Amino acid sequence: MKALVLAGGSGSRLRPITHTSSKQLVPVANKPILFYGLESIAAAGITDVGVIVGSTAPEIEAAVGDGSAFGLTVTYIPQSEPLGLAHAVLIAESFLGDDDFVMYLGDNFVLDGITDVVEEFRKDPRDAQVLLTRVNNPTAFGVAVTDDNGNVLVLEEKPRKPRSDLAVAGVYLFTAAVHEAVRAVEPSPRGELEITDALQWMIDQGMEVRSTVITGYWKDTGNVTDMLEVNRTLLERLEPCVNGYVDEESEIIGRVRIEAGAEVRRSRIVGPVIIGAGSVVSDSYVGPSTSVAENCRISHSEIEYSIVLRESSFDRIRRVAASLVGRNVKVAVAPGLPATHRLVIGDHGHVQLSS
Ligand code: TTP
Repeated sequence: MKALVLAGGSGSRLRPITHTSSKQLVPVANKPILFYGLESIAAAGITDVGVIVGSTAPEIEAAVGDGSAFGLTVTYIPQSEPLGLAHAVLIAESFLGDDDFVMYLGDNFVLDGITDVVEEFRKDPRDAQVLLTRVNNPTAFGVAVTDDNGNVLVLEEKPRKPRSDLAVAGVYLFTAAVHEAVRAVEPSPRGELEITDALQWMIDQGMEVRSTVITGYWKDTGNVTDMLEVNRTLLERLEPCVNGYVDEESEIIGRVRIEAGAEVRRSRIVGPVIIGAGSVVSDSYVGPSTSVAENCRISHSEIEYSIVLRESSFDRIRRVAASLVGRNVKVAVAPGLPATHRLVIGDHGHVQLSS
């Protein structure tokens, strides 16, 4: 069995982060979201992995390499444009050959991994199998209608009037029967070859598409809110450990991980929190569910429920929450009077000020 990991796409919901980097490499609990997926694939006993890459191919290839760090053998499959999930399968046909495979969306997070569902498919394969999860807002997802045995009867992409609350999570298992399906479907109104249309085509041809409803935690991290939620969930399971320097005037409370080479001075850290190597927190408060990546500076500031990417700094800023801050960002107080906000923000930036 092989795996096909989708790490292309346009990432429009995560702009401006995705103007300069790949959304699959945004770190949650200081590790790229994509790595959790690759680890789950390796844990399920799959080694041969095709990775679909788009405009951020160099960055993904630099991060994942030949896959050996994960115990995988990775083949990169360039996608000229993000023309849809079924298009990704179409261009991967020569890599996939006649093998069964699991398709994994590179920005998705499945807390319990995929080992059980891969095992189920190995032992008792159908033409295809999808993971489903109950959601409150099915209009934002591919939605499935199933019979009492879990066979999928109907699939609709982002329906206006959903016929169930069962959303398709970003893990699919296929036999080689899918190749005919992805060749048969036409682009949808949004111009993409939809995997839901390919699955519906398989159902219409009388093929069997089975579903498994997952009760564990699953999230698509395509937007900031969900990214922060996955970060919070992971931090709650963090192994606390202080490898960096913490002075006597600082207070460390709860589940906190301070990596080697990080420094905390005259500060209060209330976990779950991770502070990356080389970062310095001084005269500050870092509150629950915050990940600070490597080489950041946080001084005379307060931050919580946020993700800060590497080499960014906060100086005299109160109080930051529910924020995703990119790499090399500087947030400081504007000098002089009258008090003003001075902003130099990238395209599609998003700023909410407290006053
Ligand atoms: P999406 O999040 O559905 O699409 P997107 O990345 O274009 O994001 P947005 O809607 O914010 O513009 O994609 C799911 C995953 O599949 C994600 O990891 C990107 C990847 N993908 C591809 O590799 N190729 C594609 O053609 C598409 C549409 C997505």
